[in-house]
This record gives sequence, structure tokens and C-alpha cells, in this order.
Amino acid sequence: MSRKVLAALGGAVLALSMAACSGEGAGSGGNDSDKPADLTIGVSMPTQTSERWIADGNSVKEKLTAKGYQVDLQYAGDDIPTQSQQIDQMILRGADVLIIAAIDGTALSGQLQAAADAKIPVIAYDRLIRDSPNVDFYVSFDNYKVGVAQATALLVGLGVQNKDGSKGEAKGPFNIELFAGSLDDNNAHFFFKGAMDTLKPFIDEGTLKVKSGQTKIEQVATLRWQQETAQTRMEDLLTSSYNDKTKVDGVLSPYDGISRGIITALQNAGYRDDIPVVTGQDAEIASVKLINDGVQNSTIFKDTRLLAEQAVVAGEAFLQEKTPEANDTETYDNGVKVVPSYLLPVETVYKDDIQKILIDSGYYTAEEVAAGQAKG
Ligand code: GAL
Repeated sequence: MSRKVLAALGGAVLALSMAACSGEGAGSGGNDSDKPADLTIGVSMPTQTSERWIADGNSVKEKLTAKGYQVDLQYAGDDIPTQSQQIDQMILRGADVLIIAAIDGTALSGQLQAAADAKIPVIAYDRLIRDSPNVDFYVSFDNYKVGVAQATALLVGLGVQNKDGSKGEAKGPFNIELFAGSLDDNNAHFFFKGAMDTLKPFIDEGTLKVKSGQTKIEQVATLRWQQETAQTRMEDLLTSSYNDKTKVDGVLSPYDGISRGIITALQNAGYRDDIPVVTGQDAEIASVKLINDGVQNSTIFKDTRLLAEQAVVAGEAFLQEKTPEANDTETYDNGVKVVPSYLLPVETVYKDDIQKILIDSGYYTAEEVAAGQAKG
């Protein structure tokens, strides 16, 4: 029986909850006789509403296809049951490796157990999958440092700190508000922790004031990282805490989509040249245009091409029954085990950096930045 048939059967056996099949089961990693064309990598991405995940999905697919592998790429529309089903299907169809960017990092234990039973290695892509022993590798960025970089950009934007880390001229006090990402995404906690560790001394000394008093991650989180949810919260904050003619000076935002929601709320409330310093992440093209136009302060660039490359390198290692190279084996405890990780560095992009970091590197063209739209 061919390996692929066994693969499919392996999934069926799983579905029937039978004892582990002996011999070579589904997706048991490649072996020397497997040609790339016989091997399928299942790639599960959270959503197409955010442009970054489209770029990630395309990048991973292109790189794998160029090496001759089959790619089963699925987007789950930010719906947890859809993502679970799509991964079930990938296992049934005989995926040899899974690359997963989870919607809810705690909701995939069942799928990961099925993958483990079928001997399919699982790579968590950018978002750590929690509460499961069956995560074999993690590719991401240094997520704590992302938070530090966001908070630093806020301090630099307010003039409290200079880019070189020295003390800035501005004394404040400045009114700031804080936003965090989705609580079910492990990254949201890392970003917020990095940011708050950086901002806390300035809050403690009174240079920064969180006028709403909302400083706990549970109070400032944004379910599914949604732009509209962030816009509504910013509108509520303006009505509840800034109805006395005081102004917001800065907003810590963990992600460009959230930043755009915040900016829309501020503009609707009449902010123009006095728009607060708003941070971001992902260098989404619509936000890069806003930075170029002087509306958004900054973003944190995570090069999805490099992340995709690392996912492919790790995937290939598993297919060759090797252990992918990790550069961090301490930070990412998923509640059950520390997942070996490969973490990439990040870069802060202010207006002056767009040319060098985003255009010269070929990530975007100058025309795309001017239009605020990527050309697919
Ligand atoms: C996080 C990711 C961020 C951002 C956010 C919203 O998991 O690390 O870069 O993309 O999701 O999509």
C-alpha cells in the first residue's frame, strides 16, 4: 500500500479512535524515497481580513511550491470551529507536516493530538499553540521585544525619550491610553508585558497618565484583534474620559488594524494635526501610508518573507526526519512544555525609515506606499 494511501487511512483510523497503527502511519515525516511532489504541507492561516496573513500564506505557499511540495493552504475566517475542521481535513488528506497560525491558541489540542497520533509534525506559525504537548516547533519573532519597541516608539513620539535611548526634552504630563490584542493569542500577552515594563517607570513618575485608569490587559484587550472593536473602545474612551476638553496625547496600539480603528475614532472626534502618537505592528500597507502621511506614528516591521522562510526550513527538516535548528529553547512555555523556537528580529519603522526598511528591501514599492494598497 502506498504511503499516501496509508496516510489517508491513518486519518480514518484516527477518526475511529482506534489504537495506533503500526508501521508507517499518516504523515510520518518524509523519508529518502519521498520526492517533494509526493509530500503535502498543510498551512492553516487565521484570516484573510488582515493583509499580513494573506502575505504570510502567499509567502509560505510560494516557497514550498518552488521546492516542489504540494501545499494545502486554508484560511479560517477567524472562526475557531472552521480552523479545527480545516486542520482535521488536512490530517485526513494525508498532510506530512502542518504549519498553523492559530486563531485561539488554546483551542487546537484535539487536532494536535490527532496530528501526533498520525505522526505529523506541527509547527506553530507566529502564534504559539498552547496547552498541548504536540507542538513540535515554533517560528516567530521576539514578541516581548515587539512590545518594548512599541512602547519605545510611543515615548519617542511624545518626545520623552530620544531614538538613541537618551532622555528627551518633553516633560509631560501626557495623557495616554493603552490597547492590547486578543487574550486568546499568546503574543498579545508578550507584547503587553514588554510595553508595560517599558512604560511603567514613566507612569509611576507621572510623566504619562492613563486617564481612563484602564491599565490591565483584561481591560484593554481587543478580541480577535478587530479594527471595529478597537474603534468602538476608543470612541467610548473619548466620551467617558476626555469629555472635559482634555486631549489624548498618545495611544499604545499593538497592531496596525487596531491602530486604524483608533485613528478613525480620533479623526471622527475632530483630531487632525493634533492626532495623538499612535503605534502599530505588521507594517500593513494601509498603515504604512498613514505613517508616510504623518497620521500614524510608527509600526513594527515583522518581515513575513523571513518568517515564511523559517517555517519552510523547519518543515523541510521534519520531512527529512531531522530536528530543526532552534535559537531559543527557554522562552515559549505553552503550559505543557517549552517549545523549541526560532525567533526573528523586528524593526521599528517611523516615517523616515519607510524608504530604507520597506521599499529598498522590496517589501513594498513606492507606488504601493503612496496608494496605501498592495498590488497582490
Ligand atoms: C498576532 C501577531 C501580530 C498581529 C496580530 C493580529 O498574533 O503576532 O503580528 O498580526 O496577531 O493579526
